[in-house]
Amino acid sequence: MSGKLWGGRFENIEMKPSIMKFTSSIDVDKVLAKYDCFSSKVHVDTLLKGGYLTKSESVEIKKALDVAETHLDEGNFDLAGFEDIHSAIQDFVEKLYPESGRKMHTARSRNEQIVNDVRLYCKDSVVRIKKLITKTQSALVELALKYDDAIIPGYTHLNRAQPVLFAHLLLAYVEMLSRDSGRLEDASLRSEISVMGSGAIAGSSLKLERSYTAEKMGFKNISANSIDSVSDRDFMIEISSALSILAVHLSRIADDLILYSIPEFGFIDIGSDFCTGSSLMPQKKNPDVLELIRGKSAGVIGALNTLFVLLKGLPHSYNRDLQEDKKPLFESVETIAGCLDALSCLVVSIEVKKEKGLEALADEFIYATDIAEYLVSKGVAFKDAHDIVGLIVKKCTDKDINISDLSISELKDFSEMIESDVYGLLNPETSIKNKKTKGSTNPDMVKKELKKWRKELSR
Ligand code: ARG
Repeated sequence: MSGKLWGGRFENIEMKPSIMKFTSSIDVDKVLAKYDCFSSKVHVDTLLKGGYLTKSESVEIKKALDVAETHLDEGNFDLAGFEDIHSAIQDFVEKLYPESGRKMHTARSRNEQIVNDVRLYCKDSVVRIKKLITKTQSALVELALKYDDAIIPGYTHLNRAQPVLFAHLLLAYVEMLSRDSGRLEDASLRSEISVMGSGAIAGSSLKLERSYTAEKMGFKNISANSIDSVSDRDFMIEISSALSILAVHLSRIADDLILYSIPEFGFIDIGSDFCTGSSLMPQKKNPDVLELIRGKSAGVIGALNTLFVLLKGLPHSYNRDLQEDKKPLFESVETIAGCLDALSCLVVSIEVKKEKGLEALADEFIYATDIAEYLVSKGVAFKDAHDIVGLIVKKCTDKDINISDLSISELKDFSEMIESDVYGLLNPETSIKNKKTKGSTNPDMVKKELKKWRKELSR
């Protein structure tokens, strides 16, 4: 294996290529290359401050790190055969400036270096995912504004429950996503911490000003305990948890949109460029993009489980097992980024079929709760009102008729309190307008929420 960071007692000992390959993490941690170069530069500054490097040595090392970064950016840094990203970059610096290069790893262990790199990665990833969440929320809000008067049946138990504005449902998704954003933000409080200066486990006998390193790294705090520093992975579990909850949310949104787009519901039409055809059935328009968003959530949740199992019962402090933590995290970030990007584009393509919603709302049983509340407002106890309307529904079901097919005298047989104004309740507009509570589907309230979100998201 080239550029080993652990020569000395392993002089003249060669690993079999298959074992080298088995132990190497370069295929995964190459993602951290830019963070490794950056934190090495900060480390050089810390060493200079501590008096362990001369100014010219620090300049040389930083120059070499700049060249390494350029090669990495341009894709002409040959990483093959290295144990990990730290070894590859160390080797590169040493080859350019052998003398100063050999001092770069002073007072530093890969045990802390890898944690530090991942913490930098998490910081950027949180920003990236949050931006994509905002993009998705904006797409949802714009769709809601475009169809702000479309009404659909709201479902509970996947049965028609009560009329709701489609925009109200879209805003439910916006709320879920905003909690996801908040959770990522919370998690970053515990990931944006500098562990440098912890060494392999015990700290260092050399003078390293840890708060100086942290500040240069862009971290607000330093870790308090060197043993914890090299073994803590719960900051990764937190990010992974937040991503898993987000994945579950995306899967539920995707599932709703799939349902509402199929002919059985038909409330929306998804752009054909987000669907595929069947190789066998010519009539099919399959919502594959949404199905994949729903399906990919499995991998993100699985990644969280991998991290839990990896950590469970692991002795302190660093163990090589921990090398297996990065793949699940990186894959989750990429998967979620892909899902959010796809969903935000797909939402823009949605066409709302208002007439389909109204067709479904012609079935008047969906106004049963409105009639019960009408009776309550006339002084009937809710339980009695519930029974009365339940019996009306039963009669209609038995006779296979709608509520408005019953005459006022037939309705009065159920309750003297029912007047002919009851027929006015049997339409979606009245149903939603009559909602009074904050957070309800009342059109004025929904409009206000839409305005609030549009403003908030444009910030
Ligand atoms: N590739 C290792 C990891 O991802 C880096 C740290 C290795 N440390 C060590 N002492 N071997 O965890």
